[in-house]
Amino acid sequence: MSNPVSTEVEHLSIFQYTRGHEYAGNRFNTSPRPERFKSYNGPCVRLKTTIRKGEAAHPQVAMNGIEWLKQLLLPAFGVTSVKFHGHESELLWSYPSAGGCYPVELYVHVRRLAGVEPGLYHYNALYASLYRIAGAQTAEQDGHALPDQEADVSFILTIVPWRTCWKYSHKGYRFGLIDAGHVAANLQLVLRSLGWQSDAYTRLRSEELAAMLKLDSYEVPIAMIAASCAEHREAERTEDAATKLSQRVQLSERCDSQDDVEAELFDWEPILGFQKKVNRTIQEPSEGWLTRAALPEDWTSCDRLLPLLIERRSSAAFQRCELPAEQLFTMVSFIERIGLHSDFHMIVNGIEGLAPGIYRSTEGRLDCAEEGDFRDITAGICLGQTFIRDCSAMFVFTVDMSHIPNDDFSLYQQCTIDGGAMGQLIHLKTEEMGLGFSIIGGFYDDEFRELLSLSSSHQIIYAGAWGLNALNGEEVRKDDRYVMNKPQS
Ligand SMILES: Cc1cc2nc3c(=O)[nH]c(=O)nc-3n(C[C@H](O)[C@H](O)[C@H](O)COP(=O)(O)O)c2cc1C
Repeated sequence: MSNPVSTEVEHLSIFQYTRGHEYAGNRFNTSPRPERFKSYNGPCVRLKTTIRKGEAAHPQVAMNGIEWLKQLLLPAFGVTSVKFHGHESELLWSYPSAGGCYPVELYVHVRRLAGVEPGLYHYNALYASLYRIAGAQTAEQDGHALPDQEADVSFILTIVPWRTCWKYSHKGYRFGLIDAGHVAANLQLVLRSLGWQSDAYTRLRSEELAAMLKLDSYEVPIAMIAASCAEHREAERTEDAATKLSQRVQLSERCDSQDDVEAELFDWEPILGFQKKVNRTIQEPSEGWLTRAALPEDWTSCDRLLPLLIERRSSAAFQRCELPAEQLFTMVSFIERIGLHSDFHMIVNGIEGLAPGIYRSTEGRLDCAEEGDFRDITAGICLGQTFIRDCSAMFVFTVDMSHIPNDDFSLYQQCTIDGGAMGQLIHLKTEEMGLGFSIIGGFYDDEFRELLSLSSSHQIIYAGAWGLNALNGEEVRKDDRYVMNKPQS
């Protein structure tokens, strides 16, 4: 028996859309588009590499640190494609992002890395450049904010919520958490393929980390990947100190941002309230801070992984068809292996041998809750996104807040970030299977719950449409992204 929904849980309604109130409070039509990335002034190290489609890296654990950062960051957190709309072009990245808003920023805390002076760095993904923002001493002093202080290198993922809230209002904050989860999964996968061991923290003391990184107001640390490699450490120990980066790179300073004034016009109160609740429920560092999404044993080599990361795209159009049931079972068992949701829903539209309808997967067992054609209803619930009608199945992952003790908002936040990591893994598996997938973040939460007969304590963490890409799928406009990228008058 579920507990009644507490007033605390009602607070999560800030992340939900109800019909007629979607986007309420956004500043899409009133403020200029936010800056796409953060900039620092000062010298930088360019990490441009020549990795291309099908041209995998050849990992050597003892490779120079700069070379290693190149091999890691470009595929995990980089631009992999350019899309043209007439004369307009837009950049596409190695991870999905709601509406192409890309709110994630990445910082690198170096303790031991051959050829790289210890300190704190900001990675500008667009220019594949590394800016040193704090020296070794400061990084060491402030290093207590890191959940793993022994790691050789730590990657801190932050989000700049203005980039998504500008378009999606408060729901945009939740999208940022999901995006950070996508990047966390990428980093872990590429680190593993390069022979490094890593731990992903999706709960952390964000205020302490924000102070360490001297973040702008509203930018918030979301996740951290702690990476180490014993063999690389050996190479670092024996290297000549003169080869360190310090001789060449001085500290960089944050450039002024044009966004500050506009961002102030947005109503941040509900998000600040949520952050307070998250921070209040963060306990002492423990195993519970680690992501609960397990990396499946797929793609342990760069050769297998890189083409998937580079070629992954979100579907914009599906071909209405029945997929063999075998393909669905492959995906369901893959999801099981990630270990986050042993129980989730599927809206089946076109799977051979399965009557269309609403299904529930519980530990790999599939039960039909209601037979019927839900194509139009689902597309309607998803803000009228008609391409969803043609997918073969839609996955919906939820958490029941009544099972989360004491309104533990940090656990809710972690479920969302981990949900993003799972989503990226589903994306890559789908790519490997030659099929198409798109996360769907635009939906009316209450109507989805009603469709799935879920109580109001259930929060939809992640939903995605899955099927065969339409033949001309690559040419079809991805509306949620295009609308934001069209030139503003
Ligand atoms: C949190 C989130 C929500 C999204 N919601 C939608 C959606 O409702 N509809 C849709 O078509 N695509 C959605 N997308 C997919 C993005 O449009 C897509 O990731 C982005 O355009 C970049 O393209 P790419 O994934 O092919 O690199 C979403 C992505 C994320 C991360």
